[in-house]
Amino acid sequence: MIVLGLETSCDETAAAIVDDGRRILSNRVLSQLAEHRPYGGVVPEIAARSHLDHLDRLIAEALDEAGMRLDELDGIAATAGPGLIGGVFVGVLTAKAIAAARRLPFLAVNHLEGHALTVRLTDGIAFPYLLLLISGGHCQLLAVEGVGKYRRYGSTIDDAVGEAFDKTAKMLGLGYPGGPAVERAAAGGKAGCFTLPRPMKGRPELDFSFSGLKTALRQQAESLNLEDAQAVSDLAAEFQQAVAEVLSDRVTGALRRFARETGQPGPLVVAGGVASNLTLRSALEETAAAAGSGFHAPPPALCTDNGAMIAWAGLERLQLGLVDPLDFAPRPRWPLDDPTLARDA
Ligand code: KG4
Ligand code: ZN
Repeated sequence: MIVLGLETSCDETAAAIVDDGRRILSNRVLSQLAEHRPYGGVVPEIAARSHLDHLDRLIAEALDEAGMRLDELDGIAATAGPGLIGGVFVGVLTAKAIAAARRLPFLAVNHLEGHALTVRLTDGIAFPYLLLLISGGHCQLLAVEGVGKYRRYGSTIDDAVGEAFDKTAKMLGLGYPGGPAVERAAAGGKAGCFTLPRPMKGRPELDFSFSGLKTALRQQAESLNLEDAQAVSDLAAEFQQAVAEVLSDRVTGALRRFARETGQPGPLVVAGGVASNLTLRSALEETAAAAGSGFHAPPPALCTDNGAMIAWAGLERLQLGLVDPLDFAPRPRWPLDDPTLARDA
């Protein structure tokens, strides 16, 4: 089985082809960074127009790279939400047009399910697992019990982790995109030179909060000379350490609940753009080890948005017969624990 996947929900235009032998036959990603950088963030209208300009070419390149023609595919998947709706429309309409013209199954993929299942493509792990999903728009802990079967343990009550990284980068004058910039700055700094809070640490429920951390960081940043590169690095390192400790604390509680409910000690899976952060990955790997749990995270390039994750989620759904009608309406908001995702899976 071979599936083409399209991703256009944010600022990456991507097309990829995967097969049921867990091979990535091609994976083309075009970042729109340069187009959004002057505005310090993603501009939805610019993103949608750029997807429209580039998607057809990326699909052609993905087919070339895989050495395939459209009629060799078994299905076409596209991110159908959640995300910036203009971009989502571009991907969904393109996929529907190809599906209609070639009489192929169309798969409306939830972007978060793409992140959630990537590790089954890269590491081939079985259900169930505990998922920490950390991206630009989300921060959630979920028990993943099957395709479309998610039970949410907790989520952020305010900002997402990636958002916190992006805002931190802005306040420290580190530019855009924020996550990688903060990680680079933190590498040259020392946590503990500044003091930032660890919101929710030690609390019994499994939610997250990052707005207090952001406010505390803003206060420290305001009295800082941003020309002082060492001080900026030290504050970035303290921020990253605070995030690592909070995530580890929440994950420890979630692993306990997961073991109680499933009789299994894990494994822990970390996914989403923020999971490409090496300091956070190693902190979470240690946390899993301390709980006697296995640890899996996709390679960094498959943590940030890409087409392979959408193709793979589409392929898993196609294998279960979860094909979508051509009048499927894109969804700007679409939580992972939505019961319609499982349908009759
Ligand atoms: O999953 P993703 O590519 O897009 C969404 O679905 O949101 O995640 C993007 C987020 C951004 O907030 C970005 O700053 C963050 O992931 N990110 C990172 C790193 N690389 C990307 N955060 C921390 N460290 C990184 N190395
Ligand atoms: Zn994403």
